[in-house]
Amino acid sequence: MLKSISLLTSGGDSPGMNAAARAVVRTAVYEGVKVWGINNGYKGMIEDDMRELNGRSVSDLIQRGGTFLGTARSEEFKTEAGRKTALKNLKTHGIEGVVIIGGDGSLTGGALLEKMGMPIVGLPGTIDNDVWGTDYTIGADTAANTIVDAINKLRDTASAHRRIILIEVMGRKSGWLAMTAGIAGGAEYILVPEVKMDLDDMCCELRESYERGKRYSIIVVAEGAGSAAGIGKIVAARTGIETRVSVLGHIQRGGSPTVEDRMKASMLGEKAALALMNGVSNVVFGFDAGKVVEINLADAVHNQKTLDPELVRLARVLV
Ligand code: F6P
Repeated sequence: MLKSISLLTSGGDSPGMNAAARAVVRTAVYEGVKVWGINNGYKGMIEDDMRELNGRSVSDLIQRGGTFLGTARSEEFKTEAGRKTALKNLKTHGIEGVVIIGGDGSLTGGALLEKMGMPIVGLPGTIDNDVWGTDYTIGADTAANTIVDAINKLRDTASAHRRIILIEVMGRKSGWLAMTAGIAGGAEYILVPEVKMDLDDMCCELRESYERGKRYSIIVVAEGAGSAAGIGKIVAARTGIETRVSVLGHIQRGGSPTVEDRMKASMLGEKAALALMNGVSNVVFGFDAGKVVEINLADAVHNQKTLDPELVRLARVLV
């Protein structure tokens, strides 16, 4: 068994990262293994910003969004010189492996470090739910719930005024968040980067539905599908219906994690720590059909997760 491991959170924070980190730390402590927390992601690894943690270091965290370790997107880590410095710092502290909690870019960084000989176990942490090989990423459920809550509120005012309201949500390349929250929130239209929507057809349908007496419509726009402000102008001009736009922004990234995110993050954190301590490397733990699964790290970062066509169809059918 390894004697000393470390963990970091990297990229955009997501609710449940703390729950995962807590599980990693407490599992290591339970097994009598030293555990180091690296502050601010790969940036902290390069700057030697790390500290030894104990069970108490992760008290009062399971209910908190954000990440107590801090996070960053590091340009320096993309260079070989940066990674060499990072590796040297880990070795100086006697660290024999790293748990990386983050999205695609962060796990790609982990794969590069692994190639330099450092054992790595990844956990998918991003609200985008766009990591290949897992149905689930830490924080996506909480973010989707935050969006549904916003949609519920927007419905009230949209209905009062007979307006169309567009809500822009996160997801530069992935429409999972928009699609899931849109379906769960009962949105009329969901615009995602993966599927081209004919705005002429959409506006025509909107006009006809208002003529038949519809009181309001909600359109969810993933940021990668275009700006809601721009699309809103087109919709207003082509339908003649009063239109408003709401950009949800970073509210989606924060907040207390849902039960699903707390539970799954805790399960993944334990698995990651146990695997790493027992000599497993080059893997990501995720979920498939409700069960924890192990995914090859290179496969996870080199493959592109696609949007489930069943969801796209469901969204269309439920309009
Ligand atoms: O990858 C997570 C994510 O929240 C995306 O959905 C979003 O596009 C991006 O991060 C925003 O990044 P930043 O916080 O750097 O503006």
